[in-house]
Amino acid sequence: MKKWLLLLMSILVVGLLAACGTNGNDEEGTGSGDQTEDKQVLRMGTSADYPPFEYIDTEVGEEIIGFDIDLAKAITEELGYELEVQDIDFGSLITAMDAGNIDLILAGMTPTEERLEQVDFTDIYYAANHMLVSLKDSNISSIEELEGKTVGVQLGSIQVDQAEAIAEEVNITIENRDRIPQLIQELKAGRIDAAIIEDTVMKGYLESDEELTGFTLDSGEEGSAIALPKDSELTEEFNRVLAEMKENGELDALIVKWFGGEEE
Ligand code: ARG
Repeated sequence: MKKWLLLLMSILVVGLLAACGTNGNDEEGTGSGDQTEDKQVLRMGTSADYPPFEYIDTEVGEEIIGFDIDLAKAITEELGYELEVQDIDFGSLITAMDAGNIDLILAGMTPTEERLEQVDFTDIYYAANHMLVSLKDSNISSIEELEGKTVGVQLGSIQVDQAEAIAEEVNITIENRDRIPQLIQELKAGRIDAAIIEDTVMKGYLESDEELTGFTLDSGEEGSAIALPKDSELTEEFNRVLAEMKENGELDALIVKWFGGEEE
C-alpha cells in the first residue's frame, strides 16, 4: 500500500515540476500564444485626419478607425499578417516608408507618376473627386471667383497640384497645412478663402456644418490605392485579395459601411 502511495506522490511531484518547467520556459521564450506571436506584423502608416478613410472618433475611443483600417485589416488577415497602425502626417508618409519605419500606406492615397518613382501601388480600391470648399457667405461658386483669394490644401497631397493648376488660370495664393481639420479651421476663421479637399471627406463636414459649401472640380477623378515599397512581393498578393474582395462583395460592404449608400 505504502509503496503505491509513494509512487503516486512521486508521479505528482514530477508532474508538478514539469508543469513549472514549461511555465518558466514560456516566460523566457516566445512560447505561449504561438499562433498570434508567430504572425509577422505589418506596420501601416496612415494620416488619421481623413474621415471616413481614417480618423479618431473621440466619442468611440482613441483608436484610429475607418474604411482604410477595415480594408487593411481584411487584406492582411487574409494573408496571415498582424496589422499595426501608425498615425503620420500625410506629407511624411512616403518618407517614413522609405526609411523603413512602416511597411505599407493606406491613407486615401492616389497613385501619381511622382509617387510611383518612390513606391508601388496596388489597384485602385475607391474613386473620388476634388471639391472646392468655402464658406457659404463668401459666394464662391466658380474657379473665376477665386481671383485674388487664398486657397488651402493639405501638404504633400495631390490637391496641391490642383491648386497649382488653378493658379495658372487665376491669381490665387496657395497655403499648405498638415492636417485636414486645420484647413477647415482656417476656412472658418477667415484665414483662407477656400480649400481643395476630396468630396468623400467633405461630405461629412458639409453634413455637419451649415456654414460650409462646395462644388466638385471637373479636373477628373482621383482614386485611392495601397502604397508598398518598390518591388515588394506583397503588391501582387494585395492585388489578389483586393480582386477577391471586389468579386465577393466584401469591398462593397465596407464602402456601404463607411461611405453610406443605401440610405441616400
Ligand atoms: N488623395 C489625395 C492624395 O493622394 C489626398 C489624400 C489625403 N489623405 C489623408 N489621409 N489625409 O494626395
